[in-house]
Amino acid sequence: MRHIISPNDLSLSELDALLNLAEDIIKDPDKYSDACHRKRLATLFYEPSTRTRLSFEAAMLNLGGTVIGFSSAESSSAAKGESIADTIRVVSHYADICVIRHPKEGAPYVASLHSKIPVINAGDGGHNHPTQTFTDLLTIKNLKGRFENLTVGFCGDLKFGRTVHSLLEALSRYPNIRFVLISPDELRIPAYIKEKILDPNNVPYEEVRSLEAAIPDLDILYMTRVQRERFFNEEDYIRLKDTYILNSKKMALAKEDMLVLHPLPRVNEISYEVDDDPRAVYFQQAKFGVYVRMALIMMLLRECEGRSLC
Ligand code: CP
Repeated sequence: MRHIISPNDLSLSELDALLNLAEDIIKDPDKYSDACHRKRLATLFYEPSTRTRLSFEAAMLNLGGTVIGFSSAESSSAAKGESIADTIRVVSHYADICVIRHPKEGAPYVASLHSKIPVINAGDGGHNHPTQTFTDLLTIKNLKGRFENLTVGFCGDLKFGRTVHSLLEALSRYPNIRFVLISPDELRIPAYIKEKILDPNNVPYEEVRSLEAAIPDLDILYMTRVQRERFFNEEDYIRLKDTYILNSKKMALAKEDMLVLHPLPRVNEISYEVDDDPRAVYFQQAKFGVYVRMALIMMLLRECEGRSLC
């Protein structure tokens, strides 16, 4: 049984196959409108979501399948104290594939140990968000045309931002990639990412505080919001939340072909005036999320039938 808990649970060739399938779906979505007929997706969301839950649900419906699920812990039996292990044992009887978002790091992994159906991690605490990474990679592939020879800037909350952790891990597998990590001191990338991902892969990176100084060198700027829900006290959040605000003045310092990505939701870190800049692709990115999740559902269900992922 294949589960997707971290971004590198797909080999590079499997990832290529996923992104190629997603691009084929973009070209001819009707070809796939019946691909998951009689299959059911369960969405178990113990934390709020707009894009991930709804794009997974749209993906399964686009494939001709059906969807069940809950959108908060309070509306499930977790509110009565049920463990995630028991929940997934039961949901395995109701659905063919399952997507889980949970505030506790490792919860989807624990679920996968007790599951009889594929489990996809839709975000676990401040840890990982692999399907956002697949979305980000499809965006980069489609709009930039390559993963190698890129300088990628990550800006904002690099400590709690799970989308950052997952994308760093995925991009570290490509040659000649360089990272510029732009954050206040309190929100720097966790040490384990440097020790387990960046250093062993010899990925060059620098940690800086100034977005203005870093932006002229970047091929991709990945903006993130400060993750209010992960802070222990509100004063720290209020002090840090507006450290970086990308506006037209800062965009004027960037390359003409730099792309601005953001996993969304945006709070204050990108001014609305940037939305009309052709380099701002975060809403296109959200759209790509449906196609890549269609491809992922198809591939995992195919593998359940004994067919290879590639
Ligand atoms: N990017 C993302 O995970 O958005 P949601 O929290 O709305 O799912």
